[in-house]
Amino acid sequence: MQITMIGSGYVGLVSGTCLADFGHQVICVDNDETKINGLLEGRMPIYEPGLADLVLTNIRAGRLSFTTDLASAVKGADAVFIAVGTPARRGDGLTDLTYVFAAAREIAAAIEGFTVVVTKSTVPVGTGDEVERIIREVNPTADFTVVSNPEFLREGAAIADFKKPDRIVVGLEDERAREVMLEIYRPLYLNQFPMQFTSRRTSELIKYANNAFLAMKITFANEMADLCEAVGANVLEVARGIGLDNRIGPKFLQAGPGYGGSCFPKDTLALVKTAQDYDSPVRLIETTIAVNEVRKRGMARKVMAAVGGEMRGKTIAILGLTFKPNTDDMREAPSISIIQALQDAGCIVRAYDPEGMESSRTSISNVHYARDAYDCAVGADALVIVTEWDAFRALNFERLKTVMNKPLLIDLRNVYRPEEAQRHGFTHVGVGIASR
Ligand code: UDX
Repeated sequence: MQITMIGSGYVGLVSGTCLADFGHQVICVDNDETKINGLLEGRMPIYEPGLADLVLTNIRAGRLSFTTDLASAVKGADAVFIAVGTPARRGDGLTDLTYVFAAAREIAAAIEGFTVVVTKSTVPVGTGDEVERIIREVNPTADFTVVSNPEFLREGAAIADFKKPDRIVVGLEDERAREVMLEIYRPLYLNQFPMQFTSRRTSELIKYANNAFLAMKITFANEMADLCEAVGANVLEVARGIGLDNRIGPKFLQAGPGYGGSCFPKDTLALVKTAQDYDSPVRLIETTIAVNEVRKRGMARKVMAAVGGEMRGKTIAILGLTFKPNTDDMREAPSISIIQALQDAGCIVRAYDPEGMESSRTSISNVHYARDAYDCAVGADALVIVTEWDAFRALNFERLKTVMNKPLLIDLRNVYRPEEAQRHGFTHVGVGIASR
């Protein structure tokens, strides 16, 4: 198939490259010339393990190309994916669809022959109807149909998630699109990966329901963690115990400092907004959002309580800035709230992150960026693990103790069992684990 991917960010670049790797001819489009030129020279605009190699392999195989010229890329395409950003407008949960609708207008003007227009971006329920209206208004004679095909890619695992999905969801209103979508995902379909065909609005809602449920599940684990600390129980054991119930499952029950990222915060807010607009509020998700926000901000208080005494002038070492490991993404990262609150209390903050320090500069300031975990710990009154990078999973506690001011580990991801740190003379403060 000849496929055009509009938007070469986290979703579009991974999706376009993987579709090329399936054997399709893919043109990735972006209006950011610097990004496109970088891609043509093999420079990735995002950090995603394995992506650079996959892009280069498919460029060399002649299956993948990049351009800023949307019109030429759309002509002759069997399918045109819209994978542009759909950012949340600050705080009110409204999704900014400016880029989606602009792409729809440009596609409309360039369509030739029957074309399946696919919304890959996460878009509120009903957006597909609006995209269809816009294209028909701009080009009344265009022969097209609009399909919803949401992605379920996790940053840091996006290629694996694309190539081995739990399912492919397709929302369509025109049966002609079914054949095209089956052909596009043929390698997955032939390998028995489940493909769900449903209506366009149902498909759009599935995406939000999926992320909202995952965010709620994490938040449930986080609240259980607080209760565990109060009653003297162990949240890791609670998570294991309930996770063995196959109706619950063990994943996304790791208690931590709260969820971040570009999706859960944005998608939960958008779902709440849609539900309110249709006078069918989703109160569980409203509560999930509120609990998560309070939690992220409350983590600094946890650190201060563990350090004790006057915070002004204390040095706190932060390990991990990104919202999760294996990404450089700082969006809604808990570290932002934690560092801000510690600095407001007069603390000196040192930080180390394997990938996120550069991208963190727009979110935090007055932080001493360290060379590695041990450099970060120099003179620290507490070492705080905020993101569970592999680089932090085998720290040499004896070496840390020689550089730190106090042997205090605040482990917000429960990377270590308390006794592992205590054996080396550290005080260990975890999440949901009563520290003896
Ligand atoms: C998420 C969804 O998983 C993915 O399907 C969707 O397409 C995009 O949003 P992503 O945001 O990349 O993916 O990260 P994810 O791995 O889901 O983690 C989201 C946040 O939840 C991170 O801050 C992570 O630290 C946190 N988390 C996750 C927990 O706190 N506990 C868990 O058990 C799992």
